[in-house]
Amino acid sequence: MHTFGFPARIREIVAVCEEYGIPVVEDAAESLGSYVDRRHTGTFGKLATLSFNGNKTITTGGGGMIVTDDEAIAVHAKHLTTTAKIPHPYEFVHDEVGYNYRLPNLNAALGCAQMERLPEMLAFKAGVAVRYAELFAGSGIHFQQPLEGNVANRWLNAIVLASEQERDEFLQYTNARGVMTRPVWRLMSRLEMYKHCQHDGLENSYWLEARVVNLPSSVPDAAMEKKAR
Ligand SMILES: Cc1ncc(COP(=O)(O)O)c(C=O)c1O
Repeated sequence: MHTFGFPARIREIVAVCEEYGIPVVEDAAESLGSYVDRRHTGTFGKLATLSFNGNKTITTGGGGMIVTDDEAIAVHAKHLTTTAKIPHPYEFVHDEVGYNYRLPNLNAALGCAQMERLPEMLAFKAGVAVRYAELFAGSGIHFQQPLEGNVANRWLNAIVLASEQERDEFLQYTNARGVMTRPVWRLMSRLEMYKHCQHDGLENSYWLEARVVNLPSSVPDAAMEKKAR
């Protein structure tokens, strides 16, 4: 998973997985427009998923995309996501457990129009990140940057505060002044319905959960309208 659009150490992950024969599925839901050494995230594993959910950089209202250069996987994925029906002029027979995960035409049309705006949106978001970097420089607050050689799409900018108390003070201070900052998602292992599930201690995850804050990162509609004029 390329968290908040920051590319993970995907080459290293793929190398380790190759050694042990583990196929890699990249969760690139958040990382449309992010690159590792000029290569787009989602092209390193066996396959990857992109999300066009309403909260993403570009949206089709809902839905997403599977990306792969393995034709057999592509054909099988298409089969499974379109109810696994055997092609036939009038018989309706399904040969596997399938799903109705199509992206409807109307949503896809919206996605095509949004794709045309992607470069401008990425450029705007990159500009916002530069301003945040300037703001936090020398403040003692860690502003997250991509690893060297990588480009992050800046879907969500993030800072890491010194402690949970400092995080809570920051959240209260900013939200009370109309700046919608938010803590990172509550870890799934702490949600009621998954509490009983096995995990390995999650030391780093708990550390980050207590300190990471996401900053406003959306492209305001007004900015895009100004460009279009
Ligand atoms: C990392 C990650 N994976 C998966 C998803 C799920 O994508 P979707 O909402 O399109 O099902 C999201 C967000 O929506 C996400 O951020």
